[in-house]
Amino acid sequence: MDHTPNTTLLFSFLFFITYLITIASSKDLCNQNDKNTLLKIKKSLNNPYHLASWDPESDCCSWYCLECGDATVNYRVISLTIFAGQISGQIPPEVGDLPYIQRLTFHKLTNITGQIPSTITKLKHLRFLTLSRLNLTGPVPEFLKQLMNLEYLNLSFNQLSGSIPSSLSSLPKLTGIDLSRNKLTGTIPESFGSFAAEVPYLILSHNQLSGSIPKSLGNNDFQDGFNVSYNRLCGPIPTGGSLQRFDYYTYFHNKCLCGAPLDSCK
Ligand SMILES: *[C@@H]1O[C@H](CO)[C@@H](O)[C@H](O)[C@H]1NC(C)=O
Ligand SMILES: *[C@@H]1O[C@H](CO)[C@@H](O)[C@H](O)[C@H]1NC(C)=O
Ligand SMILES: *[C@@H]1O[C@H](CO)[C@@H](O)[C@H](O)[C@H]1NC(C)=O
Ligand SMILES: *[C@@H]1O[C@H](CO)[C@@H](O)[C@H](O)[C@H]1NC(C)=O
Repeated sequence: MDHTPNTTLLFSFLFFITYLITIASSKDLCNQNDKNTLLKIKKSLNNPYHLASWDPESDCCSWYCLECGDATVNYRVISLTIFAGQISGQIPPEVGDLPYIQRLTFHKLTNITGQIPSTITKLKHLRFLTLSRLNLTGPVPEFLKQLMNLEYLNLSFNQLSGSIPSSLSSLPKLTGIDLSRNKLTGTIPESFGSFAAEVPYLILSHNQLSGSIPKSLGNNDFQDGFNVSYNRLCGPIPTGGSLQRFDYYTYFHNKCLCGAPLDSCK
């Protein structure tokens, strides 16, 4: 029995180590600046039930709708995805204060109104921007051209008005644009014939776009994503490019578009 004291010592030591590990692993990963910003966002959205898990006492990396990056970015918040909830208010300008964010989504919320805030231009790492099925008004902002890392832009199902900024085509990584189901007017920008990046889809259906389809658009290889149906476009569908690859439903319900795949022009 003379080994008992040593055993006790060993167990105490093991217990102490376990205790240290527990302390270390329960430490918040969440960055304090991100947490403060998120709490402001929650307040600005009128503390919705949807964000009930956003409790200041807990680690924000465990909150609903959020994703933190790994150790290489010090666990900063990289994704904020708020969808399918009963939420009223505007897109909080504070979203611009989550500097590591790559994906920002507000989708299918009951009552989000107002304009797209210019503070999102501060998000230098932003790659995927979805603000859809909300009730946003105002323009598709010109300032989006400042989001140099943007790959995907989906502003569908809103009440956005005004014309489409031609500067979107200058974004070096943008490979998908969906502006469908808005109230956009004006013409399809001529510049959309040559994007800085390859553009696999361009969805502009259900707007009030007028004029003709720029001939330059045939230069793109839109693969399977191109749709200008339900607008007020007129004139021949440009030939000699890739635009004849699409079907009738890509072009139908316009004012007077003509030529293949629609009826031939008079
Ligand atoms: C929608 O939000 C606005 C303010 O953002 C508010 O005035 C209005 O009452 C809300 N409507 C509904 C149906 O919740
Ligand atoms: C947008 O607002 C209108 C009324 O202003 C409402 O009928 C509609 O449900 C709202 N849509 C969304 C997606 O919030
Ligand atoms: C854009 O978002 C809507 C949902 O609101 C979705 O139905 C649509 O497929 C998205 N567009 C693209 C091209 O991913
Ligand atoms: C284009 O959009 C219209 C309207 O939303 C839809 O009915 C049609 O199926 C779409 N065309 C293609 C090829 O997806």
